Amino acid sequence: MSRSKDEFFSIASHELRTPLTAIRGNTSLMLEYYQEALKDPDLRQLVTDTHDASIRLIGIVNDFLDMSRLEMGKIDFKLAPVDLPALIEETLKEYQVTGSRQKLSLEMIPPAETIPPVMADRDRLRQVLINLVGNGIKFTKEGGISIELHVEGKQVAVWVKDTGTGIPLVNQGLLFHKFQQAGSSLSTRDTSKGTGLGLYISRLLCEGMGGKLELVSSEEGKGSTFAVRLPIAG
Ligand SMILES: Nc1ncnc2c1ncn2[C@@H]1O[C@H](COP(=O)(O)OP(=O)(O)OP(=O)(O)O)[C@@H](O)[C@H]1O
Ligand SMILES: [Mg+2]
Repeated sequence: MSRSKDEFFSIASHELRTPLTAIRGNTSLMLEYYQEALKDPDLRQLVTDTHDASIRLIGIVNDFLDMSRLEMGKIDFKLAPVDLPALIEETLKEYQVTGSRQKLSLEMIPPAETIPPVMADRDRLRQVLINLVGNGIKFTKEGGISIELHVEGKQVAVWVKDTGTGIPLVNQGLLFHKFQQAGSSLSTRDTSKGTGLGLYISRLLCEGMGGKLELVSSEEGKGSTFAVRLPIAG
């Protein structure tokens, strides 16, 4: 993206956040404190849909903001040693409710070896893991998501494995590009499922921390494994 376009994205996204946050906040208050006024189920549904839509939009706007900042090199990574098993437990907890609602298992396989701390920006790494586990959940109907940790030379690899739809070989090449949704062409995309920025942003975040994000393997109907690789601290 050109610089002026990047700046436009960055400013527009920022400006959009304030009114969107108001819509999310107000609809949330209405649902919580105006139950009497929202007795009519149709009216309640309208407010609920508006609330959900605002949450989706805030997610998209945040992704646009991250995308333009990453492309302009404007994200400062605060690198420090990170305890991976603790961060992974934290990430999985966020999805506990969604996971059990969809009857999917979510687990971290206890590592066979001691996992040394990695050098990373904890919040940004959390964002990457949330994206990967979120994708796993979104594209898995049965089974679940498991996370494995492996020491590989001077790096630690975090494998995020799912038992979901898998990704057709022809689509695997473009997976980490922006606005790519492997299951559909641009004209038929189902935007209710996302914008196709998650893996692009996650890849740039990993690279910004001196790491890597890769697809390890994927088989249609069987599932996929993604790997985040990060340098060992010290
Ligand atoms: N674990 C997975 N299993 C199957 N397909 C996947 C998986 N992860 C990603 N994909 C495919 O890759 C595409 C791109 O993923 P990405 O996370 O970038 O976008 P998204 O999830 O569609 O939208 P967003 O992340 O912006 O909400 C997805 O639309 C999907 O087709
Ligand atoms: Mg995604």
